[in-house]
Amino acid sequence: MIKGTFPIDKFDGLRTPFYYYDCDVIRKTVEELRRWSQQPIYHIHYAVKANANNRILKFLSSKGLGADCVSGGEIEAAINAGFKPSEIVFAGVGKADWEIELALEKGIFCFNVESLPELEVINTLAAKHNKKAPVAIRVNPDVDAHTHSYITTGLKENKFGFNLSQIDEAIAFIQQSENLQLIGLHFHIGSQITDMTVFQHLCISINEIQESLAQKGVTVEHINVGGGLGINYHHPNHIPIADFEGYFKVFGLYLKLRPEQQVHFELGRAVVAQCGSLITEVLYVKQGETKRFVITDAGMTELIRPALYDAYHHIENISSEAEIELYDVAGPICESSDVFGKDVLLNRTNRGDKLAIRSAGAYGEVMASRYNLRQLPYAVFSDDL
Ligand code: LLP
Repeated sequence: MIKGTFPIDKFDGLRTPFYYYDCDVIRKTVEELRRWSQQPIYHIHYAVKANANNRILKFLSSKGLGADCVSGGEIEAAINAGFKPSEIVFAGVGKADWEIELALEKGIFCFNVESLPELEVINTLAAKHNKKAPVAIRVNPDVDAHTHSYITTGLKENKFGFNLSQIDEAIAFIQQSENLQLIGLHFHIGSQITDMTVFQHLCISINEIQESLAQKGVTVEHINVGGGLGINYHHPNHIPIADFEGYFKVFGLYLKLRPEQQVHFELGRAVVAQCGSLITEVLYVKQGETKRFVITDAGMTELIRPALYDAYHHIENISSEAEIELYDVAGPICESSDVFGKDVLLNRTNRGDKLAIRSAGAYGEVMASRYNLRQLPYAVFSDDL
């Protein structure tokens, strides 16, 4: 069995569980991302929600990425880590007044607006601060992302964005508002999308929307296509980098742009997922009637994705080279959904072995909770060992 490379000796003495970030993987990922998105009209905003670890944010801002934020806290974290306010987009269906005021004060690039009442509030607050707020309308293009229902967002009648029938009203409202300026259209149809034809459908839908707006004399400076590019959770060792080539080629081929129009992307998972692993120690190997359970010291409090989305994460025993056996791997939390994997093939496992739960760099550390009054996990970077 091919396993990842981990400095297991250097893990001795480190309290588990912790997140381990492989700096070579994130460096290589960003290199590939930049390689395939070199067109000057392409702008990448890293989706901070995927991983807001300060060190990761600092690295990504140093590589010239912008940021995609969904809260005042994320805007502050992004600016503290070196992202330029003029390269920050701010999305979210429930922006609080203080968050809007913070974004206005910092002078962010654009508000991605999700409803008419939100436009009204931004207009009022911008007037109060004597500013003109740059806005993009988030449009629901009704494209099926073919992904988990909890992370699909582009279909009609979900809480995100404006439906196609509501765009004209939103634009009319912006045009008559003193303190709003329409600069873009925003789309985001879901996450963990690995079928590139989904993005092709998104492009076709955007083209139709742009065409119909152009007939009404409306054009915008930029198109924001959101994020959503998936990664390979099953083969983190063989396929450690997302298909940036295929992804950007689809937009190059199918998205029809107006003269001077810029394209913005909001990638999260594809940038950070594969560099992170959750390292946990085996507390007990417990024999059930037919199954054997490995009980780890990490649980859904450190990585909630399996419990919340039934998500698959590849698991390796990085302490053992013994023969392969079958186990269920479960955490210590008092919830029956606190299971990292069923029928997992692991080298024969004993108490004290360390397991690596792979592809956990995105929506891992950042979604940790203190349920059961557990300590929040900490991070270890390969460059420091
Ligand atoms: N832009 C918007 C408007 C979004 O809502 C999201 C993610 C992104 C960009 C970044 O999407 P990405 O490139 O990472 O797919 N916690 C879930 C994922 C939730 C995604 C929410 N929105 C998970 O663990 O799978």
